[in-house]
Amino acid sequence: MPSSWWAPAGRIDVGILGATGVVGQHFVALLADHPWFRVTWLAASERSAGHRYADLAWRMPTRLPAETGALVVSPLTAIQDAPRLLFSGLDASVAGEAETAFAQSGRHVVSNARNHRMDPLVPLLIPEVNPDHLSLLDAQRLARGWTGSLVTNPNCSTIVVALVLGALRQFQPRRVMVTTLQALSGAGYPGVASLDALGNVIPYIGGGEEEKIETETLKLLGRYDNGAIRHADFVVSAQVNRVPVPDGHTAVMSLDLGTKPSVEEVAAALASFTAEPQRRTLPSAPPNPIILHTAQDRPQPRLDVAFGGGMPVHCGRVRRCPILGYKLVAMGHNVVRGAAGAALLNAELMVARLRSAGVESDRELESVPAVRDVQIHQA
Ligand SMILES: NC(=O)c1ccc[n+]([C@@H]2O[C@H](COP(=O)([O-])OP(=O)(O)OC[C@H]3O[C@@H](n4cnc5c(N)ncnc54)[C@H](OP(=O)(O)O)[C@@H]3O)[C@@H](O)[C@H]2O)c1
Repeated sequence: MPSSWWAPAGRIDVGILGATGVVGQHFVALLADHPWFRVTWLAASERSAGHRYADLAWRMPTRLPAETGALVVSPLTAIQDAPRLLFSGLDASVAGEAETAFAQSGRHVVSNARNHRMDPLVPLLIPEVNPDHLSLLDAQRLARGWTGSLVTNPNCSTIVVALVLGALRQFQPRRVMVTTLQALSGAGYPGVASLDALGNVIPYIGGGEEEKIETETLKLLGRYDNGAIRHADFVVSAQVNRVPVPDGHTAVMSLDLGTKPSVEEVAAALASFTAEPQRRTLPSAPPNPIILHTAQDRPQPRLDVAFGGGMPVHCGRVRRCPILGYKLVAMGHNVVRGAAGAALLNAELMVARLRSAGVESDRELESVPAVRDVQIHQA
């Protein structure tokens, strides 16, 4: 096993946990021509293990890369065969224990699953919003004794809400009301039964969807402080709905902003927002993380979700709200920006930071100054 998995020479071998699911297949598609990473290992449940990936159902509109299709799917127990960098699209029923086992064994797991997101020692990351939270990995390594690591991305609706709030952070958000209209692909495959979904709106999504938006947002907008995250102290209220849209979660938001900017200032902050991934020109970073629409009937999932490969979040209808001050509509691709693309951007940021810091080996990484006083701060 090479000691420096992020070495710039050649592409980095990566594996996918949950490679057969909706998110897993998006990973395969997004990694097909990736300049830094190449897929060399796949894992899923015992149902899929032992089969050639090409012999399992490929449900993406793009061609399955031949070299990935030829890989034989491993079970989650084949930890020692896994490369150092792993993307996880595992079902939440197994992700918790499995991801921990891989991190313990020296793998760097970049996960979509909800299980570890609110762990105070696990970065919950959106590279444009809180790249400094990666510093938590020092405390994680020390406290857990792992040679690998665990990083997560937020829930697929939270990422839309948090990117908007990240762009508006300078205006000091105080209260946020959000109602989501969430796509069917957010439920995984085969997801919601067609007779429940078609021509319908279901005002409930299981798995604590509303709580995830309300709590993850505060961790994301929180402040890294001496080995811990101090959660943001504003308040979010979320209501979620499942709608018969294939891809693209819409978030209808009303906001109270402490500094009382003009509507024009809010719109300008959204349109001009860029951050570390854009400065570093990371391969999956959209030039503009937020696309501001001026047409009154945008954004729309059908028209806008595929733009820029699904990585930007779209905003429109920025206007006055008579109750909270400001309101707008945001929309993002739940499986790309909300899942596989988000994890890919997280991994790119990790690799870019290791490379630019001149860290050359795992041994050197382990000697990064210790953050011993690990405390949990919550607002
Ligand atoms: N879909 C989205 O928009 C979205 C967005 C953000 C986050 N997420 C999260 O990402 C994860 C994957 O979501 P998804 O939509 O891709 O779900 P999915 O289509 O149901 O795929 C689940 C994956 O987990 C594997 N799996 C299930 N049970 C397993 C077991 N006992 N042992 C090993 N592997 C097992 C499946 O393998 P088999 O095919 O072999 O059963 C499959 O590869 C979930 O944690 C979800 O909450 C999803």
